[in-house]
Amino acid sequence: MNPTNPTNPTPMEICVVGVGYVGLVTAACFAHTGNTVIGVDDDQEKIALLQQGTVPIYEPFLDQMVAREVREGRLRFTRHLGEGVRSCRAAFICVGTPPLENGEADLSAVEDVVRRIADVSDGPRLIVEKSTVPVQTGLWIEKMLQLYGRGETGGFAVASNPEFLREGSAVEDFLHPDRIVIGVERPEAAELLRVLYDPLIRRTFRCPVHEACPQREVPLLMTDIASAELIKHASNSFLATKISYINLIADLCERVGADVLKVAEGMGLDRRIGRAFLDAGIGFGGFCLPKDLQAFVRIGEKHGCDLSLLREVERINGERIDIALKKLQSRLGSLRGKTIAVLGLAFKPNTDDIRFAPSLELIDRLLKEQATVKAYDPKAMPKAQRILRAVDFCNDPYAAVEGTDAAVIVTEWEEFRRLDLLRVKRQMRHPLIIDGRNMFDRRVLESMGIEYIGMGR
Ligand SMILES: NC(=O)c1ccc[n+]([C@@H]2O[C@H](COP(=O)([O-])OP(=O)(O)OC[C@H]3O[C@@H](n4cnc5c(N)ncnc54)[C@H](O)[C@@H]3O)[C@@H](O)[C@H]2O)c1
Repeated sequence: MNPTNPTNPTPMEICVVGVGYVGLVTAACFAHTGNTVIGVDDDQEKIALLQQGTVPIYEPFLDQMVAREVREGRLRFTRHLGEGVRSCRAAFICVGTPPLENGEADLSAVEDVVRRIADVSDGPRLIVEKSTVPVQTGLWIEKMLQLYGRGETGGFAVASNPEFLREGSAVEDFLHPDRIVIGVERPEAAELLRVLYDPLIRRTFRCPVHEACPQREVPLLMTDIASAELIKHASNSFLATKISYINLIADLCERVGADVLKVAEGMGLDRRIGRAFLDAGIGFGGFCLPKDLQAFVRIGEKHGCDLSLLREVERINGERIDIALKKLQSRLGSLRGKTIAVLGLAFKPNTDDIRFAPSLELIDRLLKEQATVKAYDPKAMPKAQRILRAVDFCNDPYAAVEGTDAAVIVTEWEEFRRLDLLRVKRQMRHPLIIDGRNMFDRRVLESMGIEYIGMGR
């Protein structure tokens, strides 16, 4: 029995390769449920920070969790894969799978890790794909293990365990998942993962997020590897489709004088549809939906299946920035020489992640129109400052809107909901708000003398 976590009677040693948004949360949460976890990453700076006790990303609850697990000896970090893999029973691959130019997922980091695991392992291991990968990657991994593994390591098993956490609530999502999907071909692999996830299923861990945890059941779905791989891409593509669908409806609402918020509410009350992901706005971004959608189309092509429905989803999403710009131009005319505030840089609230964020495309387009851009984000500015040069980053939203001709809300941070709008109005040269996330009530803003333009309302 593990003395520090008596609720997990069968702790195990695991290795997590790639400690980014998914890997670090996975490592911290498995340590929190009583296992001994070693996190491996080839980013020296990231590992050095983690070894000094600094969490390099912003994710609610994560830094306290990492600090506690490190202190209690269940979690440590290294750059050396051999050190991580040597004593583990299972290695979780959580490296990035970014898009190649043609939209396919770049599997070079996955391949590198698999080859190195095969090379350093001196006994059988379970290799778990947690990165989002195209269907049949598990088969390919098995072949690589056979090819590169040492003679006596024929006992490698492969599993697919796609991750569904959302940045911004990653710890909560990991510990309280809607479902756990495990794709395996061998019973011993299924059993190992079932035991590892047992504390989440029976909710026997001390929850760092809630005083009273949600009383939902956590279904464990066991499938073959290919089905598990498909579940991830199919789910993300479906969510993206829901967003683009409501954005199309938003366009129609604008033409006919309807309100997309009401339409979404009415649709969402139908349990077959549901209200989630029916939020019209400036479009989706991040490291999942855009790239997974593209990769899924390519997977379809590769297997002779026409998934071009998803190309439309992508196209509709791509138009959102144009629509926001047109709204600005309809009120301000040419944007040349105008000053625009961009409120929110992260692709969604409660994260510092700006990968494929709509803010980046919007800022690029504003600069091309020769506007001056001022920006503020509660968490994402350090990351944005590394890649955006011609932007005036401000310390708070009031400084960002000062002297501007319009403000565009790109991320629905709670902080923006609590803005003193009269102060915002006083700061602006021209009080115009383009509400890219439909956060505000038009009547409230208009009663204050602020011109308001939402999306689909
Ligand atoms: N971010 C999300 O919300 C999310 C959710 C579900 C699934 N996913 C999937 O999980 C995977 C990881 O996503 P992420 O957002 O955590 O990415 P990330 O970029 O934050 O993390 C990836 C980490 O892997 C490391 N890495 C890359 N190549 C390596 C190698 N060869 N050896 C060791 N380490 C290496 C990087 O240094 C980085 O720290 C992707 O496939 C993504 O699609 C992401």
